[in-house]
Amino acid sequence: MSFQRLCLLEDLELNRGKEFLVADKIVAAFRTNEGVFAVDGMCAHQGGPVAQGELQGKCVTCPWHGWQYDISTGVNLLSQKKMLANYPIEIRSDEVWIDVA
Ligand code: FES
Repeated sequence: MSFQRLCLLEDLELNRGKEFLVADKIVAAFRTNEGVFAVDGMCAHQGGPVAQGELQGKCVTCPWHGWQYDISTGVNLLSQKKMLANYPIEIRSDEVWIDVA
């Protein structure tokens, strides 16, 4: 595991996504009441911006054509197949750290 600092916790709005470029990967990070989660930022359908999707609980809806994913697992909720990588997150004091290795 190789964690790197992603952002300050306060940089993530509650129940919203934010896109980051981490080690050449586009990552969508979400802050919820259950914690911070991160998945691939490009939708498995046609590359839509997952971070801009509407979030309800742990379900994000891609803004382009409505595919839905569990942000804690990367599983597509229609097919039940894992379609996005999900990345370990650690909260260290007021900072968010991520492992994209
Ligand atoms: S690109 Fe995400 S649903 Fe089509």
